Amino acid sequence: MKKTLSILALTILVITASGQKADRFVNDLLSKMTLDEKIGQLNQYTGDWGATGKITSDGEKEKQIREGKVGSMLNVIGVDKTRKLQELALQSRLHIPLIFGQDVIHGFRTTFPVPLGETASWDLALIEKSARIAATEAAAYGIHWTFAPMVDIARDPRWGRVMEGAGEDTYLGSKVAVARVKGFQGNGLGNTDAIMACAKHFAAYGAAVGGRDYNSVDMSLRQLNETYLPPFKAAVDAGAATLMNSFNDLNGVPATGNAYLLREKLKKEWNFKGFVVSDWGSIGEMVPHGFAKDEYDAALKAITAGSDMDMESRCYRNNLKQLVQDGKVPVALIDDAVRRILIKKYELGLFSDPYRFCNEEREKAETNNADNRSFAREIGVRSIVLLENKPVNGKPLLPLSKSNAKIALIGPFGKATTAHHGFWAVPFPDDSQRIETLHDAIAAQLDKNASLIYSKGCNIQDNDTSLFAEARKTALSADMVIMTLGEAPDMSGEAKSRSSLRLPGVQEELLKTIFATNKPVILLISAGRPLIFNWAADNVPAILYTWWLGTEAGNAIADVLFGNYNPSGKLPITFPRTEGQIPIYYNHYNTGRPAKDDNDKTYVSAYIDLPSSPKYAFGYGLSYTRFEIGNLQLSSDKMKINKGKIEARVDVKNSGDYDGEEVVQLYIHKLIGSVVRPVRELKGFQKIFLKKGESKAITFTLTPEELKFYNDKTEFVNEVGEYELFIGDSSLASLKSRFTLNE
Ligand code: GLC
Repeated sequence: MKKTLSILALTILVITASGQKADRFVNDLLSKMTLDEKIGQLNQYTGDWGATGKITSDGEKEKQIREGKVGSMLNVIGVDKTRKLQELALQSRLHIPLIFGQDVIHGFRTTFPVPLGETASWDLALIEKSARIAATEAAAYGIHWTFAPMVDIARDPRWGRVMEGAGEDTYLGSKVAVARVKGFQGNGLGNTDAIMACAKHFAAYGAAVGGRDYNSVDMSLRQLNETYLPPFKAAVDAGAATLMNSFNDLNGVPATGNAYLLREKLKKEWNFKGFVVSDWGSIGEMVPHGFAKDEYDAALKAITAGSDMDMESRCYRNNLKQLVQDGKVPVALIDDAVRRILIKKYELGLFSDPYRFCNEEREKAETNNADNRSFAREIGVRSIVLLENKPVNGKPLLPLSKSNAKIALIGPFGKATTAHHGFWAVPFPDDSQRIETLHDAIAAQLDKNASLIYSKGCNIQDNDTSLFAEARKTALSADMVIMTLGEAPDMSGEAKSRSSLRLPGVQEELLKTIFATNKPVILLISAGRPLIFNWAADNVPAILYTWWLGTEAGNAIADVLFGNYNPSGKLPITFPRTEGQIPIYYNHYNTGRPAKDDNDKTYVSAYIDLPSSPKYAFGYGLSYTRFEIGNLQLSSDKMKINKGKIEARVDVKNSGDYDGEEVVQLYIHKLIGSVVRPVRELKGFQKIFLKKGESKAITFTLTPEELKFYNDKTEFVNEVGEYELFIGDSSLASLKSRFTLNE
């Protein structure tokens, strides 16, 4: 015990000492900097090699870097390019190095499933490893900082950026945020495989009215604190080095100039010591928001509110000096922002060696890392969600046999390559040669006595049906059909809001044409968001939701099709029946007139023309095997409001024919509150592997901390009262018990 204490004390001492050393170094440097040089550190430009936003025309960036007028660059990839620009930065008077940022959202050189797809694995260790590998690859290419994880809670699939986050649930989203921050930052900044994380977009960007990107957000502070801020707090507590603010106005104040968010909540209440980068041009966008008169006013509002670095708007570069000279901005405010940035450059080790991330050998080693590709396949199979597997002639179609079958593969994604990277993938010239198509992956797994034929059937989103006849012929000549449909990869992502979530083009007509051949059909759906495909869901016996799985998509899908891996994915977001049902999410309030069931329409909260339930529920996903969850027992039916714990134990049995993994989920429902409480709230999950026939008891632990919520004074509280507790394989779990929280 004594030894542990001394190690702990020593560790704290070392961290404190290194922190003090960093402070001394940075304060000393700051004392030497001119106002121009300080403002230069707050200025970030994109490289011209691959913009991810509107390019602002500009003078000679390299000259400005040499003059110390640029603190950071984004979209500069590769040891050669980053070294070149770093050399220029070191020619500045005080030789302050640049930091290079990049959207490393789901992989870097090896592309992993889009984040919403990865979240469907509910495997936090795997999600952390995915970020870890992405960081290692990115760091090898000279990148110091990723603009990830995106931790925006999103309840509206019309918003294209749902693909980038962890879905609709705050508990799951917070756990995933931590996993991704830890993955990116690894053993800590200063290691050359660790890159700064950036929790974004602060805040409530996913609640844009109408699911329309960049649109306004208006909600109570209670809702903001209860639903949208916790993943950011979790990321900050996990040590996220930076945050990025969001484009939206929040309750009338743009997030970029929102002192409640940046000063009060983030830097004061949460004691955040990192720095905040604006989103692309968002400082200048406070003018069109109608919040700033001009860019001078925008710069004033942003620096005052607490936006430290200006991505691409030039408002800081063009106005901060004048604002100081006009007495509008105290130098201390600028010093605070500069200090935050310089501390991170120090922690990255860039002052001791500005070229420590410029290592050609490391870049080469990460250029085609076979282990990373096999991991892409591993996380790919675990991200796939089995939505339907109804028996055909008494037997489910999946998993498919590898022999004795002539299989037709039909659809626009059958031979797709980089489409499977989805949005926010980092493009490399040879990507298409590195991706095994679905066609080739399936063919590679078939036995000699089986065969695969292919027809494209249609394009992704036009109305051309000229290929239908040939596709129909292909289907008729086969024993069964695998159809691969979905939205285009650039139909989800930034500025990709959709008013219709249907399968685009004539894909559903093609599906019906093929279905009419009476050949058994398995449907694969590729998308970055929930789509609406009611006819397919009601008629096609087998459906796999494959998101965008990245570099190893083809092999991962083939592995699941043939049962090399028994699908275990669970939906991290509710799938609506129609766009008119949106927003629909599982953790809703009961209302005073809840519908009893899908058919209850009499003076209840329901649509008269639609069942009230979603098409697929949050947490839903099938398996090739059958899991039975039962025998729920609580260690106690009561718990003190401020201490103690309750353990909930269940038996899980794999009673089916395949080994497999199940995500066992725990939900609570507080029956009465000083504010109404959601009908279900996810408060725990465990992913377990069971061999066929195997049983295992698992235990969840609940403490009063998990039960806290925000009351109508926006206080984070517990209240005594009755709780229901549910455990099951989705948010529809029916296995139930009760407990009480007492004084
Ligand atoms: C974009 C995105 C943001 C991204 C940034 C840099 O506009 O909103 O998520 O990190 O610009 O590419």
